[in-house]
This record gives sequence, C-alpha cells and structure tokens, in this order.
Amino acid sequence: MTSKRFKNPRAEHGYQGRPCSILSVGSYVPERIMTNAELEKLVDTSDDWITTRTGIKERRIAADNEFTSDMAAMAARRAMDAGKITADQIDLIIVATITPDMLFPSTACLVQHKIGARRAAAFDVEAACSGFIYALEIGQQFITSRTYDTVLIIGAEKLSSIVDWKDRNTCVLFGDGAGAAILQSLPNSHGLLTACMGADGEKSELLYMPGGGSMCPASANSVAAGLHFLRMDGKETFKNAVNAMYTAALEALRRCELKISQIKCVIPHQANRRILEAVGERLGVTKDQVFVNLDRYGNTSAASVAIALDEAVSTGVVKRGDLVLLVVFGAGLTWAAAVIEW
Ligand code: ACO
Repeated sequence: MTSKRFKNPRAEHGYQGRPCSILSVGSYVPERIMTNAELEKLVDTSDDWITTRTGIKERRIAADNEFTSDMAAMAARRAMDAGKITADQIDLIIVATITPDMLFPSTACLVQHKIGARRAAAFDVEAACSGFIYALEIGQQFITSRTYDTVLIIGAEKLSSIVDWKDRNTCVLFGDGAGAAILQSLPNSHGLLTACMGADGEKSELLYMPGGGSMCPASANSVAAGLHFLRMDGKETFKNAVNAMYTAALEALRRCELKISQIKCVIPHQANRRILEAVGERLGVTKDQVFVNLDRYGNTSAASVAIALDEAVSTGVVKRGDLVLLVVFGAGLTWAAAVIEW
C-alpha cells in the first residue's frame, strides 16, 4: 500500500508481510481517587507544589485485593468488546509492566486465565514506562510475519505497591491503571508505520527498585532499608526524558517523511506536564495536538499511553485515518516513538 500523505518505511523496505493495525482499545482505572489534598496529610507537600511542578491533580489507587492482572484483564475485556473479539480468537498476549503480580509466572499468563484466552501464548515485557510501545512493536512483528492474526497487548501497573508513601519526591507522581489494544491486519489501513525504540543501561540507577530481584532478594534487612520501593533522581530523569522523547519523535517522523503539523494527535507518556511542554516546544506542536490526562491519573508507567490512547479514541479526538504519534520514556533508561495511521 502506498499513500500520498506519508512514506511507509515498512513497505519501503519491502516488508514481506502485511500491515499491522490497532483494531480496538480499552482501559481501566481503579475507582479510588487520591487527591493532592490527601497527599498533604501523608507528606510535607502541597496541592500548589504538585500542580505547578507536575500538573497532576489526582491519581487512581488500586484496592488492596486488586492486582495488576485484574486491571489488565478489565482493560483487555473492554478492548475485546470494542473490537468484537472473543477470547478464543486471541493468539498472543503481551503484558508490559514493572509491577507484575508476582516475579513469576508472568502477569500475561494470569491475564490469559482471567479472560479465558486458552489458545493464546503469553509473556511479559519489561521496559518500564516505554513498555506499551515496546509491546506494540513486538506484537506487530507477529502480525506482519503472519505468525498470528490477533495479538492483545496491555500496559498495566499497580505502582502504588512499590511507591514509598513517606517519600514526597516520588509518591506524588504515580498512579495505578491499565490500557489494552487488539492488533490485527485491517484491510485498507497502514496501521503502525514505524516504531523507534532505544535504551541506555548505563543510566539504570536514575530510576530503579533495588530490592526483590536476584541482586537483593527480600529479607528483613532489605525491607527495613526500604529497598523494595522505587527510587528516582527526578532532575536527571527529567532532562533525559525531554532529550530522549524529542529525539525518538523526530526520528519516527523522519522515517515517515512527516512534518509534525501533519500529526493529528501526539500522545506522550504522561509523566509530568513540564516534560510534555518542553518536548512539545522543541517539536513545534500546538497545544491542541497534544493529548494530556496526567492531571487525572498521574504517571501510570506502562499503562500511561495506553490509557491516553483509549481516551483519545473514545472521546473522538482520534478518528480512523488520523496520524498519531506516540512517544514514551522510562526506567532502563528506555524510550520509544511510534507513528500510527489510526
Ligand atoms: N512537595 C513539596 N516539595 C517537594 C516535593 C513535594 N512533593 N518533592 C520535592 N520537593 C522539594 C525538594 O525536596 C526540593 O527541595 P530543596 O530545594 O529544599 O532541596 C525542591 O522541592 C525542588 O526539588 P526538585 O527536585 O528540584 O524539583 P523539580 O522541579 O525537579 O521537580 C520532579 C521534581 C517533579 C520530580 C521533577 O524532577 C520530575 O518530574 N522529574 C521527572 C520524573 C519522571 O517523570 N519520572 C518518571 C519518568 S520514567 C517513568 O515514568 C517510570
């Protein structure tokens, strides 16, 4: 397929397969809303500080008995309903998360059981806040190669389970939720035009959780030292996020020979309004082009762009045929940008 509007790098490189599109999306956020006023009672902070430094007004917090796989399954069911897909049609489930229910088995396997997708293979991807685009690009390979016809990708997080609620530097930033997408090859749609992914493990300690893995298994000492909470160097993370998101977005546009003005909607990782403004300014986007919902959900890591994409579609901001730019950044460090003809 060719288009006068843009170059399709996958077709240009003579891909031996077929395009991969997003058939449908769905999302789920927990019922419980935690406002900035509530955080004022937990740590030395203020609604004014959180709003001006981050843009976040409230976030959702999962119930004690509600886990990442539950939220992922809810989002998946909504995406399946929207796409009129039954569980037995799903060939593969990929869950992007840094807060799996358990270290193993994978959360994808737990979701497979919860939604009854008995035929589906299932595995997790760990690329922190970049996970949903990583999952999209991986899922795309299976569709394009004709290995599978229907792939379910999910970004889901219960970040409230790894946040130190006594650390004002981090606890104000994060929230819980899940977003899902069904990938298929649709007639007359270019779908995912390109995805650029990157990583820099040298900067892994800008944002990490030291405890719970093979380096530092859980012990009374590790718990007492707070090693099972996420840690972040906010300032350095901020700078790296702006540079990486800008560079990845530019590269994705370059590959498709697109100008930013041709993009209907930019959906960035919802980390911090100031990061979005800095990236947007460098890219030359108008305010109307950028989809923002971080005021209501905070940073939901791998779920972030997935929830935002679902809201952009369900509110009619993104319509079939529109060009959409997704751009993300997260721990790893990892980053990615994708251009989609919706
Ligand atoms: N309330 C009040 N004061 C606070 C709070 C708070 N919640 N948090 C920090 N402060 C204080 C600091 O202690 C510091 O005080 P000091 O000057 O007396 O030392 C002061 O505010 C300024 O702190 P800075 O770190 O300079 O604040 P900054 O403007 O950099 O904002 C923030 C901090 C919001 C964390 C910012 O750096 C940021 O957003 N970084 C990126 C975070 C991010 O996006 N992370 C995730 C990306 S990857 C992923 O999603 C997994």
